[in-house]
Amino acid sequence: MTHLLIPFNDLRAAHADLEPALEAAARRVLTSGWFILGGEVSAFEVEFAAYHGVAHAVGVANGTDALELALRAAGIGRGDEVITVAHTAVPTVCAIERAGATPVLVDIEESTYTIDPAAVEAAITPRTRAILPVHLYGQPADMPALLHIAEARHLLLIEDCAQAHGARLNGALVGTFGHLAAFSFYPTKNLGAVGDGGMVITGDSGYAERLRRLRNYGQVSRYEHAERGINSRLDEMQAALLRVKLPLLDPHNARRRSLAEAYTARLTGTPVLPPAVRDGADHVFHLYVVRSAERDALMERLKARGVGTLIHYAVPVHLQPAYRDLGCHEGSLPVTERIAREILSLPLHLGLTTEDVQTVTEAMRA
Ligand SMILES: Cc1ncc(COP(=O)(O)O)c(C=O)c1O
Repeated sequence: MTHLLIPFNDLRAAHADLEPALEAAARRVLTSGWFILGGEVSAFEVEFAAYHGVAHAVGVANGTDALELALRAAGIGRGDEVITVAHTAVPTVCAIERAGATPVLVDIEESTYTIDPAAVEAAITPRTRAILPVHLYGQPADMPALLHIAEARHLLLIEDCAQAHGARLNGALVGTFGHLAAFSFYPTKNLGAVGDGGMVITGDSGYAERLRRLRNYGQVSRYEHAERGINSRLDEMQAALLRVKLPLLDPHNARRRSLAEAYTARLTGTPVLPPAVRDGADHVFHLYVVRSAERDALMERLKARGVGTLIHYAVPVHLQPAYRDLGCHEGSLPVTERIAREILSLPLHLGLTTEDVQTVTEAMRA
């Protein structure tokens, strides 16, 4: 493997000052002799719910399961349509299908890259049950507009917060707008585990109770199964480590935001378009995504100068070979398809310095 001067990501940096606390938490789990659905998971659920100011949080095995179980807990399944975007990570769509429902993919706003409320309105049919916005890259979707549609059309609103832990819109945290919200703790996320993990939050005690059953084979008490569930549990080790990291989520997000501001200050006025931030939003920059008509050349040139970049996502879900049967085709989602040819994610992680930002932007100018 060649070593890049500035790698796209460096996950060790998020743990640099935390090692003693993480080691103590890991030791606590090892010596407890209790590894699945125990005190660490319960405590983390309480702390994660409290951070969001919601009544319930239910730990699950990963973010994809969090979405699937949120949909299933809300009673969404076969014959139901769920409106979401093609400009997302594939798991958003995968989870809808695993719940038994049909994903209906719509276009995004040209400036924020999040779901376009007008496109949602246009896609509603008598079978529509839910809207599933993705707060992509750490940018909140237009929740006031989506809430308005959901209320007027009696639809559920289920948020994909996998890339936006701690992001706010008009002062309210993402995940607190909808009926349910799903989070991923995949290691690269703004709140990342050292393996897989996920969480569903909700203010509804009925949904929470059903989520607790569904994640544990539909079990209500030992060996009594009220419905068909799956095995999807957050484990004690991940929960214990995430408890150490949760109090640092806001400062870590502030650090990401200040690096993003440094990039934007240096890119404004160049042919490369920095990301827009929605009015009233506290974007948490899970990814810092720029736009350029010469994206591929830029990516190559940065690589030659030792800067790692990635594309999130080069092929939208509706154009993926696996999802060609969803009823979309090339040209169906013009904004999504256009930006997929032009976007580029620059390095933004907790190991990055403002000097690194300068190095990257100078390599771009060259
Ligand atoms: C937008 C989005 N939704 C869902 C997921 C699924 O999360 P996980 O990888 O934990 O299953 C991810 C992460 O990969 C994601 O980025």
